Amino acid sequence: MADDKILLGEKDMPVSWYNIQPDLPAPLKPPVNPATGKPIGPEDLAPIFPMGLIQQEVSREKYIDIPDELMDIYRMWRPTPLRRARRLEKALGTPARIYFKDESVSPPGSHKPNTAVAQAYYNKKEGVRKIATETGAGQWGSALSFACNILGLECEVYMVRCSYDQKPYRKFLMHIWNGNVYPSPSERTESGKKILARDPDTPGSLGIAISEAVEVAAKNEDTKYSLGSVLNHVLLHQTIVGQEVRKQLDIAGEEPDVLIGCCGGGSNFAGFSFPFVKDKLDGKDISIIGTEPTACPTLTKGPYRYDFGDTAQMTPLLMMHTLGHDFVPAGIHAGGLRYHGMAPLVSLLVDQKVIEPRSYHQNPCFEAAVLFARTEGIIPAPETSHAIRGTIDEALKCKETGEEKCIVFMFSGHGHFDLNSYDAYLSGKLEDFELPDKKIDDAQKNVPVVEG
Ligand SMILES: Cc1ncc(COP(=O)(O)O)c(C=O)c1O
Repeated sequence: MADDKILLGEKDMPVSWYNIQPDLPAPLKPPVNPATGKPIGPEDLAPIFPMGLIQQEVSREKYIDIPDELMDIYRMWRPTPLRRARRLEKALGTPARIYFKDESVSPPGSHKPNTAVAQAYYNKKEGVRKIATETGAGQWGSALSFACNILGLECEVYMVRCSYDQKPYRKFLMHIWNGNVYPSPSERTESGKKILARDPDTPGSLGIAISEAVEVAAKNEDTKYSLGSVLNHVLLHQTIVGQEVRKQLDIAGEEPDVLIGCCGGGSNFAGFSFPFVKDKLDGKDISIIGTEPTACPTLTKGPYRYDFGDTAQMTPLLMMHTLGHDFVPAGIHAGGLRYHGMAPLVSLLVDQKVIEPRSYHQNPCFEAAVLFARTEGIIPAPETSHAIRGTIDEALKCKETGEEKCIVFMFSGHGHFDLNSYDAYLSGKLEDFELPDKKIDDAQKNVPVVEG
């Protein structure tokens, strides 16, 4: 029998990131300045991002070398294993072969440090002293605190208030790695104060937390802003994952029929699946499925149009699927999937029908996560449970049809610090939120109209 853990040696780690931009089936629409309606240039982004990252954001080079210092840092946890989920297959009685790429083995427990260390590295290189950021579930905030700590930078994190209250352990992780964490909205910024004045009990949202962090970066000379998802350079850094998967599937003698990942801002899904998108565009029969919460159905229900990346309208306008920048999703436990927008690269591929989006309620996702934990042992993050739900549904379809498909999913992170959400699920206290179309229509009213 073939190995259940498909491991790569450190010498087999990919040495460059894969940039999908030259391979896209349609041109990517540029970010637009909301004041002029014109595309923004690299200089417009310079107050909040270092030039090294801005260059990657707009690069048309297909492969971008990973600097040696970063390769050394990646070696702390990379390459990560690709695992065969034989016990899950058996429990489902499926003829499908299920594999998962296990990004939970990184020190912060998710895929997020793949870009956090890269972003901290390029900031450090350009003399930045402090990085400000937002976080939902706390995975990104802990990953950036970890990265800044390694590279000797200060880290200031605005954490969505409902997660700050629900998930104190990630806050403690950030403290251990020298990060400073504040619940968002906070009284520390003008955008936070304005929102608190309007709605003192708001659960917060990633859109609001982004506004606060961008404001801090824009107002302080020695501080830059860092985003944990959505932007092209963030997705680029995550492609080390999919390139490893490709090598690992080769070792296993497999070709994927179905690839599945969950989508918050799109970075884990993109990093995992983009190296296979070109194969699909070249004619290979691969289903690439992005899963999201029904309570925040950006890809399945949000129109494809220009919108702000944040609530206070501080970012440029991005062409993406969006529920509207002032949409505040219900406080579901998958905090990292509570974002109104989606990466422009993922949005374009959904619009082009290369990627298929699906939405799931949180109860069936936790049901899938618990089955996974009882068969494979690892406790998934609530975000990851959306990918597992999609995988189990695909495997059950194979059971009906008898097809022996190879299904590979992205295990984006573990849920060791999300145990209260499992407790809520197991004691029947979790609510599913169906989002009425009227609420989606209402949130579109403030989305600016951009020609083109
Ligand atoms: C474990 C995990 N998976 C997935 C996500 C979703 O983010 P993205 O779509 O950028 O990968 C998050 C975000 O916090 C996360 O923590």
